Amino acid sequence: MTGILEGRAAIVTGAGRGIGRAIAESLIAAGAGVIVADNGASIGGEGGDPTVARETAAALGKKAIAFADSVASPGAAKGLVEMAVKNFGGIDIVVNNAAILRDAFVFRADPRDWDAVIRNNLSAAFYLINAASAVMRDQGKAGRGGAGGYDWGRIVNIVSSAGLYGNLGQAAYASAKAGLFGLTRVTAMDLARAQITANAVAPFARTRVTDIIQPANEAQKTYKERALKIGANHVSDLVTALCSPAGKSITGQLLGVRGREVFLFGQPRPVARIEAGSNLAQDLGAKLSDKFTDLTTDLEAFNTEPLV
Ligand SMILES: NC(=O)c1ccc[n+]([C@@H]2O[C@H](COP(=O)([O-])OP(=O)(O)OC[C@H]3O[C@@H](n4cnc5c(N)ncnc54)[C@H](O)[C@@H]3O)[C@@H](O)[C@H]2O)c1
Repeated sequence: MTGILEGRAAIVTGAGRGIGRAIAESLIAAGAGVIVADNGASIGGEGGDPTVARETAAALGKKAIAFADSVASPGAAKGLVEMAVKNFGGIDIVVNNAAILRDAFVFRADPRDWDAVIRNNLSAAFYLINAASAVMRDQGKAGRGGAGGYDWGRIVNIVSSAGLYGNLGQAAYASAKAGLFGLTRVTAMDLARAQITANAVAPFARTRVTDIIQPANEAQKTYKERALKIGANHVSDLVTALCSPAGKSITGQLLGVRGREVFLFGQPRPVARIEAGSNLAQDLGAKLSDKFTDLTTDLEAFNTEPLV
């Protein structure tokens, strides 16, 4: 992939560590300049440490610039895009990867935690897409890339299988990620004419988040052992592929990546149809139950040996 993104500018949120850092590293290896946006917060989003973004940017070399504030405000999103334009002459790639977790059963959860997770994991992605896509569209019209003809953009939203299957105690996190998938679809539609793609990627990789899983049973213990074998480099390979020129016709898709396995997920569409009559309650069970979706969690669905 060396050189395929030469002259391109990217913003990667949550790039100070974990999957985001791997993505930043891979985009830089492909030639892009990258803003490493990370406030260095805890897994729950508390506190902050500006050295996380700064040290990562320093380690990634001259093409990396640190942004150490929280990305979860419209002002920060605008500031990030301005930083990209000032330092790299534009903005071509946005990867919404930053996320926090505040798990609790739905009957115990604190509404303030819900608000924080939705703002951090969903609204922040909207703020950045909103700010960056306006500039991307203008760049396209102005022919950014000149003779190279590069006048398109790439948006990748990092979602989670928890937002697709659901998982115990993850109401806020799963809702934010499901919402991020909805945002991906509409972004892909709104930006199709501008040749800007938007895709969602559900990753699996060993990070500080998998390291702190406390298995509650044998199945979870096995899941954790398997999760710890999976490198984040596979996620960054997929994200960089989507951001490459060859990714231009891929948009509005939901992909998953777990080691060397790459999944294309289906998207919800009606799987059965009945005509409502006077016995609707009875008909629902009698005519549709063989098509009902069970309550398998994402952790159960992906508790298989990964290809690493
Ligand atoms: N690790 C996995 O297996 C897995 C599975 C499913 C989904 N994901 C998703 O992948 C992404 C990366 O996860 P990870 O495991 O690398 O997590 P991580 O906690 O290691 O990294 C996330 C980074 O985001 C930063 N961050 C959080 N909120 C921020 C904010 N408001 N502003 C700036 N930076 C902020 C944190 O400081 C942290 O460095 C997340 O979106 C996560 O939901 C990961």
